[in-house]
Amino acid sequence: MFNFKSNLESENKNNTMKRKTFLIRSFSTLAGMLAVPAPNLLAHNPSQGQKNKPLVISTWPHGMEANIAAWEVLMQNGRALDAVEKGVRVTELDPDVTSVGVGSNPDRDGNITLDASIMDEHGNCGAVAFLQHIKNPISVAREVMEKTPHVMLAGEGALQFALANGFKKEDLHTDLSRQHWEEWKKSHEYEPIGLNNHDTISMLAIDSKGDISGACTTGGLAFKYHGRVGDSPIIGAGLYVDNEIGGAGGTGVGEVVMKTLGSFLIVELMRNGLSPYEACREAVMRAMKKIPGAEDLPIYYIAVNKQGEFGAYGTNRKFEYAVYTENKGNTLYRSDGVLH
Ligand code: GLY
Repeated sequence: MFNFKSNLESENKNNTMKRKTFLIRSFSTLAGMLAVPAPNLLAHNPSQGQKNKPLVISTWPHGMEANIAAWEVLMQNGRALDAVEKGVRVTELDPDVTSVGVGSNPDRDGNITLDASIMDEHGNCGAVAFLQHIKNPISVAREVMEKTPHVMLAGEGALQFALANGFKKEDLHTDLSRQHWEEWKKSHEYEPIGLNNHDTISMLAIDSKGDISGACTTGGLAFKYHGRVGDSPIIGAGLYVDNEIGGAGGTGVGEVVMKTLGSFLIVELMRNGLSPYEACREAVMRAMKKIPGAEDLPIYYIAVNKQGEFGAYGTNRKFEYAVYTENKGNTLYRSDGVLH
């Protein structure tokens, strides 16, 4: 991921990948027709034809807890924006989730640095990047959106803004995050490679008025270079909402999501008639076509459309996402993905 090959090697790999993508597409279609879904594995658009409003969808099993908090807001006829903020705050405060907020795995120098973004039904957005010492970066992102003429604040400036707006400076390390860093230092010689910790929470909600908002928050790639910022605070990469069309959010290796502006792409694909599931799949296929090696990386998307359909897709089938609807309650789904 971090050592890119020469252009020539990349081009050869691209050609191989084009062939692979074709085979994968064909295989996916065939597998989709033949597969008998496991209880929580839905190989195709799980919500096709169902109009789910209100709705909350979020990434990973930790999204289940977050959904409950978001759902409470929606059940009181609250705004989707309040729901997504309240929802992901739960994950940010959970010390056992080592990829978001408090207790995130640190960068390779031992600093916890956080990224977050939020977007409402009017197209307003706010983000913080490389923020340290603040437990709920999503709420700082919202303050950036609502109290400044800017979209993003980063680093020391974001911290000063947070402190000026009543947030407390705190130590976000936990025994577990310290232990992970000590173990990593022994085994990785200061190289941020072979990492598998990027379980960002992205959340999308539709409220009872049919308005859509989204939030995305993360500790970023574990043991990254100091100063590294991922896709989560980049509007259009880790998160995008267009209230006329729908919303999308990403999780996984941010470098790939940033290079392909995955969430914006998904919303635009839905604008052109694709379902949330189809749009997420196309965004994953685009990443695999354009980015050498993307097929071996965890890249996952969730999406909703204005009609209340939802979907997800990934480079593999290891991704789970949580959906709360009136019909089915809070349900954990395993995402469809490319078969390898
Ligand atoms: N998707 C989170 C990150 O790469 O930072």
